[in-house]
Amino acid sequence: MKRALTPGTFDPITLGHLDVITRAAQIMDEVVVAVAASPKKGPLFSVDERCSLVERAVAHLPNVRVATFDTLLVDLARQLDAPIVVKGLRAITDFEYEFQMTALNYQLDNELETVFIMSPPEFMYLSSSIVREIASLRGDVSRFVPSCVNEALVARFGGPQA
Ligand code: PNS
Repeated sequence: MKRALTPGTFDPITLGHLDVITRAAQIMDEVVVAVAASPKKGPLFSVDERCSLVERAVAHLPNVRVATFDTLLVDLARQLDAPIVVKGLRAITDFEYEFQMTALNYQLDNELETVFIMSPPEFMYLSSSIVREIASLRGDVSRFVPSCVNEALVARFGGPQA
């Protein structure tokens, strides 16, 4: 049984995240989307709200489940018996940060393997922070996020300007 984690803050989950989770679910037996509490990031949505939005967004994927965590990723991986981390890589700007995290996770647990999936061009420059900014200025983000997330953002900030 190949069980993998797809970790992140998911504030909120975007179609880019969903693309990586879907691709991971096609090559792994089971995928656990690990929603980090990340209190230092001052997230827009609470961890419970983020988790619930991820659950709704992945409901159609039978081998995907969702967990929240406020521990080291390596500890969650051991706890869930999930020795593989799958992450998405977008533009070249992601490399430095992802290489740092992968290198440190190897130091913390050499048995935790990290693999990367390239984002397709349409998601190359998509991020949760850009989505939050557009939505907070009442722009239309419906093409960037699952419909449940669009509804949550409209409820939070109001809908796009007519
Ligand atoms: O979506 P994000 O915010 O880029 O995800 C970052 C995340 C949550 C994957 C990363 O911060 C993480 O793994 N946090 C858990 C704490 C931890 O293990 N930190 C050390 C990583 S080297």
